Amino acid sequence: MRSFQSVSVGIALAALMAAGATCAAAEDQPLGVRLVDQMNALYGAHPGVRANHTKGAVFEGVFTPAQGADTLSSAVFLKGAPTPLVIRFSNAGGVPDARDTDASTGGVRGMAIKFHLPDGSEQDIVCISANGFPVATGEDFLALLQAVGASGPNVPKPTPVEKFLSAHPAAARFVSTPRPVAVSYGTQPFFGVNAFKFTNAQGTSKFGRYRIVPESGPAYVSNEEAAKRPPNALADNLRASLEKGPVKFHLLVQLAAADDPVTDATKVWPDSRPTVELGEIAVTKALDTKKVENELLFLPTNLTTGIDASDDPIINTRTEAYAESFSRRSQ
Ligand code: HEM
Repeated sequence: MRSFQSVSVGIALAALMAAGATCAAAEDQPLGVRLVDQMNALYGAHPGVRANHTKGAVFEGVFTPAQGADTLSSAVFLKGAPTPLVIRFSNAGGVPDARDTDASTGGVRGMAIKFHLPDGSEQDIVCISANGFPVATGEDFLALLQAVGASGPNVPKPTPVEKFLSAHPAAARFVSTPRPVAVSYGTQPFFGVNAFKFTNAQGTSKFGRYRIVPESGPAYVSNEEAAKRPPNALADNLRASLEKGPVKFHLLVQLAAADDPVTDATKVWPDSRPTVELGEIAVTKALDTKKVENELLFLPTNLTTGIDASDDPIINTRTEAYAESFSRRSQ
């Protein structure tokens, strides 16, 4: 098995082991609260910031629907006029000043998008740069984070995290997947991971997972080059590109076949499944991140008519955890 240094989505393993972090969950708390407790225990207390995906950069943008996107869903942003967006790119992990190439970010990036809809409501899409998740439930994610916390250089082998990975092949696969560093956030593809149900005006529903593809194509740097880059290269390079004009992505939905699992985010659907293009995301302007990021809360259950959550249990656990993290960072 490869080095566990590539464990990500909230797992700053090297830093955690050095810190000798331990489990802080209280059995009687809701799962989302226990997950945030455990993230706080792993990464240390950083008041006023997110418990995960702590380092980020905020931008403005606009969404223009593709012709025919409303045949998949009656969601208001899929027809008619363009919709203003606020987008936060981020690095997984709870270390506020982690270098963009730091092992503590595990190579997983985030892209959270808020659609400001005409009636004043919001629709959010919250994606990561990995296609799939290491575990299928919030309980297993907590167990993984606890195993990481209980492992360390002086813990006898097999360590708790090694035991966890042997018993959870999807997690072992996830941590051994190479994750090259992108040239900028604007050259990184993103994935919705959890399935949502899209319903059109005729009442026809289909399950799908978001994919966000950079218009210029994915572009990465070598690990050697990445190690030499400045600490905020991903956001800095995107800001530099914006001086020449908008940086564009395409928002797609990969459709599930009849027997594809829609409640297990460890089960990646084959690439041969069809995708529907929903439209173009243009990143247009950098905002003052420090000023705006703390007021922003992106929730996977912030949905408009025509889009519903599937029964994937991780979706509701995420909302519980994000709300808890938001409430802590707002104090
Ligand atoms: C049980 C599983 C998960 C837990 C417990 C979890 C937990 C968290 C927490 C506590 C935050 C900070 C929220 C805030 O303060 O606003 C966060 C942020 C984030 N998570 Fe998750 N997460 C999970 C799964 C996922 C998945 C499956 C994805 C994507 C497919 C994802 C993508 C993100 C992104 C992009 C952010 C940053 C949002 C922002 O910029 O405000 N997470 N997560």
